Amino acid sequence: MNLKPLTINGKTVQFPIIQGGMGIRISLSKLANACIDSGIIATISAAQVGFLRKNFRKDPIGENFKELKIEIDKIRAVNPDGILGVNLMHAINHYGEYASFLATQDIDFIVSGAGLPLDLPEYLEDSSVKGAFIVSSARAAKILLRSWDRRYNYMPEFVVCEGPLAGGHLGFSKEDMESGNVMSLEDIVKETKEIVKVYEEKFGITIPVIAGGGVHDGADMARMLNVGADGVQISTRFIASHECDASLDYKMMIVNSKESDIVRVSSPAGLPGRAIKNFLTKKLEKENLKVSYCVDCLKTCKKVGIPYCITEQLGNSSAGDIDGLIFTGAKAYLIDKLDYVENIVNEIIRDCKLELNFTGGM
Ligand SMILES: Cc1cc2nc3c(=O)[nH]c(=O)nc-3n(C[C@H](O)[C@H](O)[C@H](O)COP(=O)(O)O)c2cc1C
Repeated sequence: MNLKPLTINGKTVQFPIIQGGMGIRISLSKLANACIDSGIIATISAAQVGFLRKNFRKDPIGENFKELKIEIDKIRAVNPDGILGVNLMHAINHYGEYASFLATQDIDFIVSGAGLPLDLPEYLEDSSVKGAFIVSSARAAKILLRSWDRRYNYMPEFVVCEGPLAGGHLGFSKEDMESGNVMSLEDIVKETKEIVKVYEEKFGITIPVIAGGGVHDGADMARMLNVGADGVQISTRFIASHECDASLDYKMMIVNSKESDIVRVSSPAGLPGRAIKNFLTKKLEKENLKVSYCVDCLKTCKKVGIPYCITEQLGNSSAGDIDGLIFTGAKAYLIDKLDYVENIVNEIIRDCKLELNFTGGM
């Protein structure tokens, strides 16, 4: 027996896995092509992709658009039919400009989290690109579904539930993360499925619910499918792949991390984040870091008195500075080697099927 394939924007993948978008410049065309080749869905992160371009500090939006186009073209040259999306955080300034630009590109979906993307459907009118969202609670899913229905008569192509073990920015308050007052991913998925069902019935469609955050292996994936998820979103595991677009130094920080190296940091975005302990996280325990420049990236950044600049520190780390901010998911410490994406995917699928007592080949 096989796993139920996942269909997004009229295209189907063999394995119900979405490779999650990772900024800055962690998930770009190399990782995306390897993921599509391995039978899963790929996502590039739109976050400051133009970071390494000469004019970035003068014209960040223009340079980000140029680089996004280059990356999408590199994927479509090799994989014209693969399922490809772009992760666009709602917390960024000029969100509408980015979404409108992406709506004209050869991609299948835009997926937005880091805030409530109430306005995403507005930019997708007359576009073949579909909208989807990432939430950390069923309550947020309900607000978005109701709003998209009432304002636009539009439904998401899929919904990602992101739990407390995810990487990057986390959709829970610092206090709740510290006190452990957060729902498990399984419970978020179960509650979200119930709400999504109401809109599936109303619109006569299916809306896949995808579970992300701490899905490391086949057993994790099976657990999510058993509580009703239609697929999983996996990010951290793919950082430790030969094909990931991050620098080798970044990847090795993940590979060499121990459980005690994975810490929480406050982000200037006003949300907690998760990172590998290093020079930066230790310094932040005592003082704020100097901010060298500002490209006005986040709506939620106060700009003054902030602990560090998120663009500067994430951009530096992906380019190879191990003293920069190394975002990670909670289970990075379980990774002990670099591998090829195809091997990672095949291992997860094989073990997931074993957990589910499926028999037969891939
Ligand atoms: C290095 C890193 C960067 C990330 N960047 C983004 C991002 O730009 N936008 C976003 O919505 N989520 C981002 N995330 C979250 C992931 O897309 C994903 O949903 C989550 O990390 C899944 O959990 P996992 O890493 O345990 O697999 C990032 C995660 C990591 C580890």
